Amino acid sequence: MPAQDESAREESDPVGSLPFAPRPVALSATLAVNEAIARKRAEGVRVLPLGFGEAGIPIHPALTRELSSASDRGGYGPVAGSAALRASVAGYWSRRGLPTDPSAIVAGPGSKPLLYALLSSLGGDVVVPAPSWVSYAAQASLLGAEPIRVATKRGEGGVPSPLLLADAVVRARARGRDVRAVVVTLPDNPTGTLASEDTVRRLCAVARDQGLVIISDEIYRDLVHAPGRAVPSPALFAPERTVVTTALSKNLAAGGWRLGVARLPDGPFGRALRDSLLGVASEIWSSAPAPMQHAAAYAFGEPPELVEHIDRSRRLHAAITAAVADRFAAAGARVARPEGAFYVYPDFGPIRDALAANHGVRTAADLTHLLLERYGVGVLPGSSFGDAPALLRTRVAPSQLYGDDDAQRLQALASPAPAALPWIAGALDRLSEVLAGLTETVTVSEPVPV
Ligand SMILES: Cc1ncc(COP(=O)(O)O)c(C=O)c1O
Repeated sequence: MPAQDESAREESDPVGSLPFAPRPVALSATLAVNEAIARKRAEGVRVLPLGFGEAGIPIHPALTRELSSASDRGGYGPVAGSAALRASVAGYWSRRGLPTDPSAIVAGPGSKPLLYALLSSLGGDVVVPAPSWVSYAAQASLLGAEPIRVATKRGEGGVPSPLLLADAVVRARARGRDVRAVVVTLPDNPTGTLASEDTVRRLCAVARDQGLVIISDEIYRDLVHAPGRAVPSPALFAPERTVVTTALSKNLAAGGWRLGVARLPDGPFGRALRDSLLGVASEIWSSAPAPMQHAAAYAFGEPPELVEHIDRSRRLHAAITAAVADRFAAAGARVARPEGAFYVYPDFGPIRDALAANHGVRTAADLTHLLLERYGVGVLPGSSFGDAPALLRTRVAPSQLYGDDDAQRLQALASPAPAALPWIAGALDRLSEVLAGLTETVTVSEPVPV
């Protein structure tokens, strides 16, 4: 492949006047697809942007008010985060059945850097679910650790199959790897599913047997579609070894504000990990942005207007992911019913032969390339999330269909039937047209410049 040849050459060749090339690090796949879609749009192509995992809802005015009121806070503040923020976050987790002391909380500029810092503090290799969010494996590799991919059970994304986990760890250790942690995502990105309590309990038992720390990424926790369905956090079943992370990025659509938090385990190991994490944080980001901490302290206090806002966004994500899943199923793909977050993960395996015959598609990357280049549909290949390349799975993130501006997005949030709003219904119909065309011998019309 030309792209690989290119990067292999750059790695060894000098660049410009310097005798070496910077270490090649690819742009995160989710950010890259965003740029590819923007390029298509600039070419005048009618696009369906289903690649980027952003919540697609406006910032609530109460959050803006809180942020503005703290904009004069220019000082760094404590590395762990302000006392007000840590107390508020402790309350948030305590209300979810995880009694938490504020001293167990560490804030950072998003949960992504917190996860990186945690992996750095833990040292050693890490088991990640296959498939899983792109950055776990990428961060491990950046740190010189090995991401060990362990498949998830069908319909229970985000948690490495407990049956396979012990074996994978034993085998990795036998070849000299130093496996120290396992990551879980509840609910999951990319599959949009939520693992069962039984699976999480069994994962905790294996983690205990194998001496692993569990990192539980619960950034989508408040976006479980079924109201009242509990999230089986491993912190409930293995509290001594579980770190939980979350952020404002998904439930309140404030990803650009860059504010995340981690809840460290109680006990001597938890305290040692916290000290190490604070050391890493102090050398990388010093403290989370002070005005954001103020707004986050307010948000984690869960005032009624934000609870209602999150509830509406949860209903919107549920309605649209269900509608999108139906469109993929109607086209012959196998797709688990979305249970949380705002993703759908269809598997085109059942129509593999038609895709190969009509379009020469053999891998998920072939499929996503075809969808983008011929039809202007931007989705990500399962291979970006650790799937084997020949598995024909793609991650679909429909939240950018909610509206082109905040007025439309607010209408979508308020609507009892958002899939019927003209701009969303039109996008869903275009999706169906493209998907039907994939398996027809006569292909659908190419997108027209607008
Ligand atoms: C599973 C998961 N964890 C973490 C993040 C990163 O979130 P943050 O904005 O807090 O860095 C994302 C964002 O896409 C995600 O999907």
